[in-house]
Amino acid sequence: MLRPWRDSDIEPARLSHDEEIARWFGFPVVVPTYEQHAAAVQHWREQYANDRAIVVFLVEYDDKPAGSVDIRSRGDGRGELSWALYSGMRGQGLATRALRLLISYAFEQLNMARVEARVDPENTRSLRVASRAGLRREGLLRQHETIGGKRRDHVILARLAADVEPSRAEGFRAILNAGLPRKRAISQLLVRDHEQRVLLCQLTYKSDWDLPGGVVEVGESPVVAVTREVTEELALDLPARGLLVVDWLPPWSGWDDALCLVFDGGVHDPSIVDAVVPEPREIVTAELCTRQQVRERCRDFTARRIEQAVAVVDGGSGVGYLQSGVRRSPDSSDPRPTNPA
Ligand SMILES: CC(C)(COP(=O)(O)OP(=O)(O)OC[C@H]1O[C@@H](n2cnc3c(N)ncnc32)[C@H](O)[C@@H]1OP(=O)(O)O)[C@@H](O)C(=O)NCCC(=O)NCCS
Repeated sequence: MLRPWRDSDIEPARLSHDEEIARWFGFPVVVPTYEQHAAAVQHWREQYANDRAIVVFLVEYDDKPAGSVDIRSRGDGRGELSWALYSGMRGQGLATRALRLLISYAFEQLNMARVEARVDPENTRSLRVASRAGLRREGLLRQHETIGGKRRDHVILARLAADVEPSRAEGFRAILNAGLPRKRAISQLLVRDHEQRVLLCQLTYKSDWDLPGGVVEVGESPVVAVTREVTEELALDLPARGLLVVDWLPPWSGWDDALCLVFDGGVHDPSIVDAVVPEPREIVTAELCTRQQVRERCRDFTARRIEQAVAVVDGGSGVGYLQSGVRRSPDSSDPRPTNPA
């Protein structure tokens, strides 16, 4: 049950504070004095009277104080949630149930449109409670607050009044989806001429040359992306054929890791370069390059990727799985190579 705080709750509640509560809230002492806790309860009552700017409920279970949950108005239909269970009350689902009740109260009684919470990324129990109560992960607020003398990151999670209920399949999937990792994808095209030369682009934003292509947009298929990128960058209309290699690029030089997919762009007459109209913000020029030029102009991992892609298209050996341009078998003993700088 969620109910208003009574004076008689203060003593048992304060004595049930533990290291876990002090740690995540950054309290200077583990067990507050009666006076400190009573002053907090008084402040909550005043804030409740102040148009419910802060609403704090005691969580009662089995006739005992089990924890405390609260919502603070941030204006414009937005509220910030927080929660804690006392020692000995955890591991039974009470926080999840309390938070779900509080969220219903916020939407139905306080007419809020959005409730949110900030949780330390290391506070995994709290992150689970938030998800189970239907909050979706939205991002990371870096070094958002000083807690216990240290600047801490916070995961920001929120639930909207308009969100599909987490008890329905669509709502449940949305919560899981919001918390799952995302990986960057890059699509490139291997375009060659009859002399085995490869079409390479010289780029405005880096010194090394690369295959035409680019980053796959959110919700876009890799094969559509590569055709779009080649049209945008070079004004060439070259549909992608089969997939040649998938190259996992480890995190490198400030970039997150990525999957690079190289598609076959076919063999063309050398006059194809005459039709190129470089997109000036990204492309300086595009040229058909010999194997030697590929090695000279590209970074070593790009040159390796191109050689592997050429080997697949020439040898018909099937799609190659690469890591940093090196062919890997699934049972390889070194699954995480680093990109050479
Ligand atoms: C965050 C905190 C409230 C989580 O407590 P909790 O007991 O893990 O959360 P719940 O009460 O929802 O219980 C969920 C656990 O009970 C288990 N459980 C047992 N019976 C259950 C039942 N009938 N229904 C649901 N869950 C049940 C669940 O499996 C879950 O365990 P798991 O996460 O290991 O799978 C608690 O760790 C705490 O008070 N921390 C300090 C304060 C804090 O960090 N506050 C947040 C600041 S943002």
